[in-house]
Amino acid sequence: MAATQLKPCLVLLLTFSVLAFASAISRNRIKSLNQIREVNRKGPYIGLITVIATEEDAFFASGSFKPDPKFPFIDLSGRRFRFGVVRGRKVVYVRCGEGMTNAVAATQQMADLFDIKGIIHFGIAGNTNNSMSIGDVTIPNQIAHTGLWEWFNTNGTLDSADVAQLEIGDYNVPKGNGTNLLGHIGYMEEEYYSVAGEPNVAESLLWANISLQWLQLASNLEGMKLEQCVNSSLCLTERPKLVVGLRASTSNIFLDNAAYRDFLFQKFGVSSADMESAGVAMTSLSNGYPVIVIRGLSDLAGNQEGDNAVRKFGGLAAVNSVKAVLGFIRNLPSSTRRWS
Ligand SMILES: *[C@@H]1O[C@H](CO)[C@@H](O)[C@H](O)[C@H]1NC(C)=O
Ligand SMILES: *[C@@H]1O[C@H](CO)[C@@H](O)[C@H](O)[C@H]1NC(C)=O
Ligand SMILES: *[C@@H]1O[C@H](CO)[C@@H](O)[C@H](O)[C@H]1NC(C)=O
Ligand SMILES: *[C@@H]1O[C@H](CO)[C@@H](O)[C@H](O)[C@H]1NC(C)=O
Ligand SMILES: *[C@@H]1O[C@H](CO)[C@@H](O)[C@H](O)[C@H]1NC(C)=O
Repeated sequence: MAATQLKPCLVLLLTFSVLAFASAISRNRIKSLNQIREVNRKGPYIGLITVIATEEDAFFASGSFKPDPKFPFIDLSGRRFRFGVVRGRKVVYVRCGEGMTNAVAATQQMADLFDIKGIIHFGIAGNTNNSMSIGDVTIPNQIAHTGLWEWFNTNGTLDSADVAQLEIGDYNVPKGNGTNLLGHIGYMEEEYYSVAGEPNVAESLLWANISLQWLQLASNLEGMKLEQCVNSSLCLTERPKLVVGLRASTSNIFLDNAAYRDFLFQKFGVSSADMESAGVAMTSLSNGYPVIVIRGLSDLAGNQEGDNAVRKFGGLAAVNSVKAVLGFIRNLPSSTRRWS
């Protein structure tokens, strides 16, 4: 067969396989859309978002999630959205995966596709406040994305819009003359778009404010009993507490560094550091949904001797965040009105 005859055959073959691929995609998409329509008939739901397997395991191990027998889940872009009932309230649950990209993508999917009343985001976090302890649960009132940086040369001038500055040379050991070629970092505000704002116009936003009504409901949880022991031989020295109304920080950084932990606390007054909360909160609020963030403190974010405690206490912190979530859901009025 001459090369010139082979070519049209190849083109035909390729065209067929591309078409077959495309129709497989749309078949799946149509199937998903039908399932989404079906589950939304049973809504509205409360959206629940965790991040990692440890948090998901603690949630399912609590035994409080009763899956919908007809539509236990729908898989969308690689994530599994599960439907069921928790403490008598219909919920749609998803584990988003680590980092801001996952957090925002999963939250926007929930907002776009499902009939939800609001979003409860829960999991574990690093503790950046010396008056808080591992095992405690924080339900912040404000969350900042502290990972939007302008990174300057040593002699570069900071942008006047920056809300904070980190001078790398301040952390030289030995001090020397304070010069460090990593220069300094300016902290930018988020460009926040929202249904409440003018379309296509971003607002500068440092702090995402947690929905006041939900925060007030959460304040009833202060004083609730939390788990103190990982097992029979490993317990925290003090009974963990739940605190409502502190500040939280999020960036695409697993924080395990005492100096930077201290910087965050001094500059931003934040009591916890995680990798998703600000993304979930800002996306929920931007879409007009109330949101609450509930994080159990699993480690000291670098202010420890030896290894980070997340391996040892991550499970316990996750269990305590789940306890708070269950208490919060129980306190929600059963009205199906949308919250504002
Ligand atoms: C910064 O400015 C000083 C004084 O003008 C100069 O000596 C130095 O080389 C500059 N450093 C860098 C990294 O540009
Ligand atoms: C500081 O020390 C570094 C390294 O010795 C040197 O290259 C730099 O020029 C010094 N900068 C100033 C401003 O003295
Ligand atoms: C968030 O709350 C603070 C303190 O109450 C307030 O000053 C700020 O304007 C609020 N931000 C937004 C975007 O509503
Ligand atoms: C308790 O948990 C710790 C940390 O995971 C583990 O090292 C230890 O073996 C456990 N002890 C018991 C009795 O299960
Ligand atoms: C640190 O945590 C304590 C105990 O919950 C709290 O009273 C204090 O206000 C927190 N510090 C800041 C700066 O938020």
